[in-house]
Amino acid sequence: MPIVNRIAAFHDDMVAWRRDLHAHPETAFEEVRTADFVAAKLEGWGIEVHRGLAQTGVVGLLRGRGESQRAIGLRADMDALHIQELNDFGHRSQVEGKMHACGHDGHTTMLLGAARYLAETRNFDGTVALIFQPAEENEGGGRVMVEEGLFEQFPVEQVFGLHNMPGRAVGEIAMRQGPAMAAFDIFETSITGHGAHAAMPHRGIDPVLVAAHIVTALQSIASRLIDPLHPVVVTVTQVHAGDTWNVIPEQAVLRGTARSFSREVRDRVEAEIARIASTVAEAFGAKAETRYERRYPAVVNTRDATALAAQVAAEVVGGDNVETDAPPLMGSEDFAYMLEAKPGCYIWLGNGTEGGPGGCMVHNPHYDFNDEAAVVGASYWARLVETALPLAG
Ligand code: NI
Repeated sequence: MPIVNRIAAFHDDMVAWRRDLHAHPETAFEEVRTADFVAAKLEGWGIEVHRGLAQTGVVGLLRGRGESQRAIGLRADMDALHIQELNDFGHRSQVEGKMHACGHDGHTTMLLGAARYLAETRNFDGTVALIFQPAEENEGGGRVMVEEGLFEQFPVEQVFGLHNMPGRAVGEIAMRQGPAMAAFDIFETSITGHGAHAAMPHRGIDPVLVAAHIVTALQSIASRLIDPLHPVVVTVTQVHAGDTWNVIPEQAVLRGTARSFSREVRDRVEAEIARIASTVAEAFGAKAETRYERRYPAVVNTRDATALAAQVAAEVVGGDNVETDAPPLMGSEDFAYMLEAKPGCYIWLGNGTEGGPGGCMVHNPHYDFNDEAAVVGASYWARLVETALPLAG
């Protein structure tokens, strides 16, 4: 069964919503206009609306026909990024320094499209929770919704997410069972040496030199300490020290990020960063203290939910266009918190191939969600509900 014709029939409406959202980007926990937009649409279609989870979160609750108490959740993220848009089309961002460079405008639109169709047809037995979450980028709005009782208030059996994927053709869907996106952590190492005149280095302990050795030594975590069959990234992204030409500073600070998929690797990376930093510093007579902070867990798709997602995807776009063993990504996604709480599956939806519309990678100032993908995504959502919560007989 291909895309849902009824959804294709209101494609122009979805394009209009998507471009409106694109022109009015809002960042973490400030998605007020976006949440109003979503809530008004849902209410207009007779869907029960709950607001206030994670400040700007919106949950639409829609019951199908029949008496089933079963329920599933579908999740879309609503937030934009702190990027100055460089596109010049009519629907470009009207907000200085902010843009929808990750396609969350498209994600919101596709879940709205499915909501409209499902509210009209109600060809399912049970309840669907339409979860519109704020602050996916950096701030973990998904975690906040879970902590504030999302699944106590809306007890779903399974939860599903999706993300557009530039580089894959529109009409392609990819997924994988098990770990699909990496855990995301940050670290900060503060190195204390002994300040001195730059021309008399023997009178001090140079934290800049220590920092350079630590940056180099940290590379051995991925190359020598972790099993090469277990993916891991340790990247130093910031080096801060000194204020002038002729002074060896007292302190240097390194900051960076670590990515991994398993609990064992994550634990080991945390321990090794601190150990390497402090022992290297000690070798130079300096001191290093490391603060390691766990941000997003890994996205881990469960077996049954992934099988269901694959079946529905194949119905919508054809089996040849579904990749069920796509390689995992080292990027991260706060849908992971929902998947820690509930079984479920997160898929990638083709947004267009390189060089064509929708082929520009996310988080780029030239990115734009490909409106042609909206019908595919909304159809996937709609069929997922109808398949997971089938009408009797
Ligand atoms: Ni994103």
